[in-house]
Formats: sequence, structure tokens, C-alpha cells
Amino acid sequence: MKRFFSILLSLTMLLGMAGCSGARATEPVNKAFVIGFSQVGSESDWRVANTKSMTSAFENDPEYDLVMENARQEQENQFTAVRKFILEGVDFIIIAPTVEEGWETVLTEIKDAGIPVIIMDRSVAVEDDSLYLTNIGSDFLRQGKLAVEWLNGEIPSDKQAKILHLQGTIGATAQIQRTKALEDAVATHSNWEITSQLYGDFTEAKAYEVMTEYLKTNKDINVLYSENDNMTFGAMRALDEAGITYGNGGQVKIITFDATKEALQYCHDGRIDLCVECNPLFGTTVKDLIKKYRNGETIPKHVYVDETAYTTKEITQEFVNSREY
Ligand code: AHR
Repeated sequence: MKRFFSILLSLTMLLGMAGCSGARATEPVNKAFVIGFSQVGSESDWRVANTKSMTSAFENDPEYDLVMENARQEQENQFTAVRKFILEGVDFIIIAPTVEEGWETVLTEIKDAGIPVIIMDRSVAVEDDSLYLTNIGSDFLRQGKLAVEWLNGEIPSDKQAKILHLQGTIGATAQIQRTKALEDAVATHSNWEITSQLYGDFTEAKAYEVMTEYLKTNKDINVLYSENDNMTFGAMRALDEAGITYGNGGQVKIITFDATKEALQYCHDGRIDLCVECNPLFGTTVKDLIKKYRNGETIPKHVYVDETAYTTKEITQEFVNSREY
């Protein structure tokens, strides 16, 4: 009997050891590379397309785990999200900053934690550019310049341009640079004036609200310079309700930024005069940059996406139909 128990004990120990050294526990676990992504919000069709481009670049790739936090257009929410990413020990952080100012402290915290950062879409205004690896997105000043160059060709020097300016989130690179291009051009054209600057926060609802209010007492405009498509859609509704015509042959020439499918359709139909492109589809480019970084390759400090501008003349229905965003 004693011998039986001793054999049983040896067998149990052997099985136990086999269990300990068995498959899972000692094999290296295939851990995904975790990326914390602080997105601005979902204020516009552009933003929705940008989020989709980012998530589809990483989903279904077991090598990566993209964790996105939506800041609902509040910089404070971005700070909270980034600090959470640091606490969780993510491998990489991507920030689409709401506004340019105020990033030194939190970027320094990320650097101190040894986590690399990509700034995308808009930019950050920091003295020390070693706080981030690269900044990928649009050349917003160039976009604004494309718009004012087009307007320059449309308004003869003996005619007045009375420009109503709808601005996006104040302090965002897209707002700062598009505004700069317009204000610089107005400063060099004695026949151009900005009748008013209205705050539309890049949203259709806000633009509709401020435009409706403005048009109650001011109807003497012939150009609308709207810093994104969604604000333009809100403005068009307000113009319709105020009985003011726009587009080809109308009272108001409309310049809009983003060139989403809906805006291109309006442009094709002659309801918008100029669509300046702002390309949101750079998810795979961001992923390539991260891969390069992981392979120890050097990456450029600034990467601009390809963009152009469209008038009714250049847009075919096939082109509108094929638009991805
Ligand atoms: O930063 C890009 C801008 O932000 C786009 O023009 C706008 O639609 C978005 O909300």
C-alpha cells in the first residue's frame, strides 16, 4: 500500500511538472503593439472619414491594437485621454490636437514616460519639436492660398468683394492658416473687405445658427469663405431661408474647404463655386510611419498629404460618385 501511494505521488508530481512546463505559460506571448489615439471629435464629415481611415488601417492587423478616445472638441478631454494612455503603458501615442497652444506639459509627460508621439491633422505650437516624432496632415495655408488665388481671378479690380467669413474652431491650425490666407489677401486687395467673421466651430448646426442671425440684418455680401464643408451646408440652409441666391449665377460665390462627396455634388450642380480639398485619408500613411519608426528608419519631421481645389468645370458625376468621403 505504501509503495502504491509513493508511485501515485511521483505520477502526480510528474503530471504537475508537465503542466507547469506545458505550452502557454513559458512560450513568448504574441503581444500587440498598443497605440493610444486621441481624436478631436466627430464634428464634421471630414472627421468621420478621418477616424474611419485611421481605424481601418489598424483593424484586422493582429500586430496592432489602436485604442481611440474621442475628445468631443475639448482639449481638456485630450489631456485626460493622454494621461490615461501613459498610465496604461501604451507603446505609442497619436494626437490630433483640437488647438495648437497648450501642449508643452502633456507632451513632456509623454516624453518622460518614454512613449513616442505622432501629431496628425492639425499641429501643436511648441518650442521643442523633439517632443514629437513627426506631424502629418494638410498644408492649411496652401489650401487658403488656393482659395484666394481663385477669388482673385473671379473678382475684377473695379468690383467689390464683400466677404462673409465663417471660421472653424479658433486656435486650430485649420482655422489659423485658412484665416491667415484670407486676411493676407484682403490686406493686398483694396477692393476686398471682410464684412464679418462668424464663429461656426466647424459644425453645421453652429454655422446655421450664426448665419441665420447675421442674415436677419445683413444681406449685402457676395462671397462666403467657409472654413469647412459642414459649416457651408448650414450656411446654405440659412441663405435659402433668407432668400439669398448663391453658386453659379447667384448673388454669393461660395468657397468651401474639405471637398467631401456632398460638397463636390453641390459644386457639380453649380450650388458651390469652389471646393478646396482637405484630404482625411491618411490612416495607412500614419501606419507606415509607425512601421518605419519601429524599424529604426528616420522619418521626416513634417509630412503633407496631397490636395487640390475643384470648380464646377473640373468635376464630373463619375468623380463625385467615386469620392471616398
Ligand atoms: O483639421 C481639419 C478640419 O477639421 C477639417 O477641415 C474640418 O472639417 C475638421 O473638422
